[in-house]
Amino acid sequence: MLEKQLEYIRKITDFKPDIAIVLGSGLGGLADEISAECVINYRDIPDFPVSTAPSHKGRFIFGKIGDKKVAVMQGRIHLYEGYSPCEAVMPIRLLRIMGAKKLLLTNASGGINKGFNVGDFMVITDHISCFVPSPLRGQNDDCLGTRFPDMSEVYSKRLINIVESTAEKCSINIKKGIYLQLGGPNFETPAEIKMAGLIGADAVGMSTAIEAQAAVHCGYEVAGISVISNLACGISDSPITAKEVEETANRIAPLFVNLVKESVKEF
Ligand code: HPA
Repeated sequence: MLEKQLEYIRKITDFKPDIAIVLGSGLGGLADEISAECVINYRDIPDFPVSTAPSHKGRFIFGKIGDKKVAVMQGRIHLYEGYSPCEAVMPIRLLRIMGAKKLLLTNASGGINKGFNVGDFMVITDHISCFVPSPLRGQNDDCLGTRFPDMSEVYSKRLINIVESTAEKCSINIKKGIYLQLGGPNFETPAEIKMAGLIGADAVGMSTAIEAQAAVHCGYEVAGISVISNLACGISDSPITAKEVEETANRIAPLFVNLVKESVKEF
């Protein structure tokens, strides 16, 4: 699996990342803060999925944050673009094969927990992924991981502690909670959000959980940070728009960049 894609990358660079970072909707600005050694567009990699979502540039940036070697995905692959779960996690697996052992997933999400405000950060403590198909379905690649991986600690307690203590140092009030991935691309109905709250979700989005599943399968230590870009449907009365999601992400960008940069240095 992924031999062709790895061969293409290795013709360009022998970069071996320590940490992979996925930048969510509107959060791509972090890429400007990295001293980049090499940039590779997904569209140039053979048989590789391409990001079509607005504000997702669709490229890998290889470089450094402090003394950590990072591979940043400026743009992810979503199920709602029509890709299979397995295609959506190809970049995560490719970065693992390149050498990354830790993964930071970020996203913009709708706040369900009544204590959350627009613009809050939430460190992900666990997820609910059972409403979308698993990327691990189908033949298992034993070179990547085991057939039946344990999911009792998808988000590493060690990394959660680092993100929390970094937030405190940066004077950022960070929330903790459970992320629910739904399929999108439509936002949810009030009834769906009511259900989501009842089953224990604090925030909802259209990504991340399947990436975390694939990441645990192939042996990453995983962390996740959600930006609450809007209140989920029915939590607030106003309709949700992609514009609102992006505007919040832009507004909190400087804080987000700081939190991610300083956290990653301690990973
Ligand atoms: N629902 C689903 N996905 C999202 C939301 C939301 O409210 N906000 C940002 N991504």
